[in-house]
Amino acid sequence: MAKQKKLFHILSSQQFDRSWLEKSLFPEILKMQRVVRAGKVLTTLKGKSVCLLFYEPSTRTRTSFEQAVIKLGGIPVTTENAKEFSSAIKGETMFDTTRIINAYYFSAIVIRSDYEGASSEAASVSKVPVINAGDGAGQHPTQALLDLFTIYENFKKIDGIRVAMVGDLKYGRTVRSLSYLLAKFKKVHIAFVAPQSLQMKADILDHLKENGVTYNKSSDLAKVAPMVDVIYMTRAQKERMSGEKFDGDGVRMTREILSTVNKKSIVLHPLPRSNDFNELPEELTDDPRIKIFQQAENGLFTRMALLKMVIK
Ligand code: NCD
Repeated sequence: MAKQKKLFHILSSQQFDRSWLEKSLFPEILKMQRVVRAGKVLTTLKGKSVCLLFYEPSTRTRTSFEQAVIKLGGIPVTTENAKEFSSAIKGETMFDTTRIINAYYFSAIVIRSDYEGASSEAASVSKVPVINAGDGAGQHPTQALLDLFTIYENFKKIDGIRVAMVGDLKYGRTVRSLSYLLAKFKKVHIAFVAPQSLQMKADILDHLKENGVTYNKSSDLAKVAPMVDVIYMTRAQKERMSGEKFDGDGVRMTREILSTVNKKSIVLHPLPRSNDFNELPEELTDDPRIKIFQQAENGLFTRMALLKMVIK
């Protein structure tokens, strides 16, 4: 396989290759973990600033990106709720917004938008790296990278891993990006657990088939939970649904189901977990297999590593 080109834009999970993930990214994330845990701030981005354009709600992605810039010694500038508070409301395109941010000499642009392809539009005109922090029901590659690292941290390998992706797989972008990453490894099996109307889309299933990843579909977490190493819970993406029924039946973690999960298995969730559907109830939080806060913390280290790698 051709050696991966130097990292510039981060737009989708397909763009990475396995050896870059294992030999460049994971060691860099571990380095950042040590730096942060030792209470240090780096000078990598000294005198540089990163612009964050967030057109959709976010807590973790935005604050961890901001903190990542700060811990690298740079300055983050954010337009939160850019859909209302930026010129988007006046009809400005992503192309023009990007040209403007370029004109102000930012060193990178991080974009979360409500439509698929927004960051690719930005990247097509940007002179500085564009990072996709979630584009509608498209992808969320930085989330998938931190998810993959969390799996690696817990199992010390990805090959042979059995993962259940649970919940709203049709509109969730994290599960799409994670599927693409997992497809780069050997003997991976994915169980897609969702109500029929919210199952994983055909483009991902086709990609898995082409890459030798086996999968099965189910609508009953109770049946799948004892068989897998990783249970990746997700919330219903209500903001993107168009009339699909989602009552959470069969795709909710319960104490009973958790009691059937292997002691060495782990439960992840990109968060936020939803209080309405209660797919991962608060009362289960302290179970040692639930690694959601380790996962979230890895978001900071992963985003530091990525910013360091893309900004010159
Ligand atoms: C996810 C997202 O925005 O896609 N959140 C996140 O970045 N951790 C998941 C979600 O909103 O359900």
